[in-house]
Amino acid sequence: MKQNPILIIGKNGKTGARVNQRLQALGYDTRPVSRSTSPAFDWEDTATWQPAIAGTRAAYVTYQPDLAVPGADAAIKEFVRIAANAGLEHIVLLSGRGEAGAERAEQILMHSGITWNVVRANWFMQNFSESFMLDGILAGELVLPAGDTIEPFIDVDDIADVAVAALTEPDLRNRLFEVSGPRALTFAQCVEEIAEAIGRPVKYTRVPVDDYIIALQEQGVPEDLQWLLRELFTVVFDGRNSKVMPGVEQALGRPATDFSSYVQKTLAAGAWDPLIQKKTA
Ligand SMILES: NC(=O)c1ccc[n+]([C@@H]2O[C@H](COP(=O)([O-])OP(=O)(O)OC[C@H]3O[C@@H](n4cnc5c(N)ncnc54)[C@H](OP(=O)(O)O)[C@@H]3O)[C@@H](O)[C@H]2O)c1
Repeated sequence: MKQNPILIIGKNGKTGARVNQRLQALGYDTRPVSRSTSPAFDWEDTATWQPAIAGTRAAYVTYQPDLAVPGADAAIKEFVRIAANAGLEHIVLLSGRGEAGAERAEQILMHSGITWNVVRANWFMQNFSESFMLDGILAGELVLPAGDTIEPFIDVDDIADVAVAALTEPDLRNRLFEVSGPRALTFAQCVEEIAEAIGRPVKYTRVPVDDYIIALQEQGVPEDLQWLLRELFTVVFDGRNSKVMPGVEQALGRPATDFSSYVQKTLAAGAWDPLIQKKTA
């Protein structure tokens, strides 16, 4: 008998797109959703949640903009309630390491009665190539309020592999996977590795967090995102997440991807080629 589809919240997201691609390649039926799909799913509009969930059996859940923002735990509580009523059997939640709000959301899922997995992740390597840090790399200067704190950045391809294993292997259920990369680096070290690989100079400039937020305001970045970035660079980026964690190995039985492998594949894909970026913009 054909199984109901697996819901993926965050269709075009860095992890959602990869989870969807992997599940489809394995022959699973999926329902990837976001604000731009039909049915749509919008975290800001509770009325969209039930129609998106209806008829699915499991879900990969990414919350927008971040589980650290005020109200995220309440949203997850309501989502889990609707999901349980709809008969959803299993939820895999992408979470952020060292965030009090994220841990509250995790606890809600763990005590919901639905089988669960939490993938609690460090900063993504792909923030340098598919997110807000890409422009700085292309421009030759990355300006951030991060000092010498080391971070074991995680490859989102590893997160997608862990999420797919959690969705498809019943033996892994009801487990928390804390996933990080195998090497903790400063932002300056990351930028140095990227610059060397792309063969262009990229400077890392550290600024005080208040100056950074003023620059975001001048660029018209929404206030909630300003709040989030301040929170991430001050509270969360205080060294609490610097230790390498074994979640990838625990879930997959193989080591996590090193930053240098990420740099090589990203370079090969053309993500830091200004000409390719201009064509796809
Ligand atoms: N970046 C990091 O370093 C990091 C580290 C740890 C944890 N995380 C967690 O990762 C999660 C994000 O996952 P991701 O990076 O895979 O996703 P992502 O790349 O941030 O996802 C972007 C997609 O989300 C959709 N979206 C935006 N607002 C939405 C809304 N209100 N409702 C529904 N969909 C919305 C957009 O599609 P549409 O325009 O079509 O809606 C957009 O294409 C966050 O919860 C974050 O806390 C991130």
